Amino acid sequence: MSQAQDKSQIRDFELAGQGELKIDWVRDHMPLLRQLEERFRAEQPFAGKRISMCLHLEAKTAYLALVVQAGGADVAIAASNPLSTQDDVAAGLVKRGVTTFAWYGATQDEYQGHLRAVLDYDPIAVIDDGADLATILHQERPEQAARLIGGCEETTTGIIRLRAMSEEGILKYPMIAVNDADCKHLFDNRYGTGQSVWDGVMRTTNLVIAGKTVVVVGYGWCGKGVAMRAKGLGAKVIVTEVDPIRAVEAAMDGFSVMPIVEAAEHGDYFITVTGVKHVIHRAAMERMKDGAILGNAGHFDVEISKPDLASLAKNVRRVRPNIDEYQFADGRRIYLIAEGRLVNLAAGDGHPAEVMDMTFALQALGLREVVQHRYEPGLHMIPRATDVEVARMRLQSWGVSIDHLTDAQEVYLHSWH
Ligand SMILES: NC(=O)c1ccc[n+]([C@@H]2O[C@H](COP(=O)([O-])OP(=O)(O)OC[C@H]3O[C@@H](n4cnc5c(N)ncnc54)[C@H](O)[C@@H]3O)[C@@H](O)[C@H]2O)c1
Repeated sequence: MSQAQDKSQIRDFELAGQGELKIDWVRDHMPLLRQLEERFRAEQPFAGKRISMCLHLEAKTAYLALVVQAGGADVAIAASNPLSTQDDVAAGLVKRGVTTFAWYGATQDEYQGHLRAVLDYDPIAVIDDGADLATILHQERPEQAARLIGGCEETTTGIIRLRAMSEEGILKYPMIAVNDADCKHLFDNRYGTGQSVWDGVMRTTNLVIAGKTVVVVGYGWCGKGVAMRAKGLGAKVIVTEVDPIRAVEAAMDGFSVMPIVEAAEHGDYFITVTGVKHVIHRAAMERMKDGAILGNAGHFDVEISKPDLASLAKNVRRVRPNIDEYQFADGRRIYLIAEGRLVNLAAGDGHPAEVMDMTFALQALGLREVVQHRYEPGLHMIPRATDVEVARMRLQSWGVSIDHLTDAQEVYLHSWH
């Protein structure tokens, strides 16, 4: 038995072959990461270093872990959501030498146990998603937190938590805000979430989108993608917002804008993407149509108030895999996908591989940056040059070239007379 197999906590090692096929499939569609894998194998930027990751455990993430491993790291990984783990991929990763703590459907205790196990691995650097590792490190393990040389954060919700810690002056190690790179949120949050949310909804419900009314709650980077793709599928789209600027943007992109309680009466589908809790609450639920379908694409399962839904329901039953029916006293039925967890990951395969290729290229380069350059504790932007490098790699992988400023244009741009 290998060391990874000995230490890992996964569902079934026998599934490894199937998981490896999934990893190899995405590898074929991730040319940026393939390039970095080769570079890292030659340069060994993480030689002998322990690195722990907390990410949705599916094939693209698995390949990122293998790229970091190719750079010389000893890698351990835990899931960032109990419903997004693919057990075959977890087994495939273990077979390829990555110590893995995750299984699909982990209870809250098991999930928390996996997060602690990945920290017991005693990493010197981390990749975090939603700042779950940061929270445990700062609440329970301050000495371990102070030993870390740094890490990278994947998502908007994690950045919000880390920024709050940084502003309070308590963040004990440097974190690179990968989410804030242009090559992350412009493409992953918008096009990735836009496509994969509808993939998750369609495969789970097997119902049509065209002609239906979709309510998108939150018109940030993810919400823009979800609304854009709903429109492309033929839906009528309503946007709800709390930010006047984003509300204007939604209106000028051609969507109806109104408060959630008003939108509640019209929606056939509701997708929350705010990073804020209880954005769909009792007052909205009370006005929803019979058969309305609710899904969340924000990081945590708090955006649709499950306590409100449960208190309104007379009966709750599972009617299809990943769909729960809440029947109200007046007979109306409201459907919740994937227990309100990220619909595109808990009820699908997550973002397309080509999109995650850019995000994970940023993760890999961000990790190398923080390991090699020793930043001060706090939240840091990824260097602009790295962001631009990833865009160039993307264009190159497509065989697309672009123009360059001439010397005369450079001078013109930087002069005032
Ligand atoms: N599903 C995925 O794969 C995926 C991918 C990337 C990010 N995320 C998560 O999605 C969430 C949103 O990320 P983002 O990058 O779009 O963030 P963002 O900050 O760009 O957008 C969030 C928007 O929600 C709005 N909002 C806040 N409260 C609201 C309310 N009560 N009603 C209506 N609108 C409200 C904000 O004004 C803002 O415009 C975060 O939790 C992030 O971590 C998920």
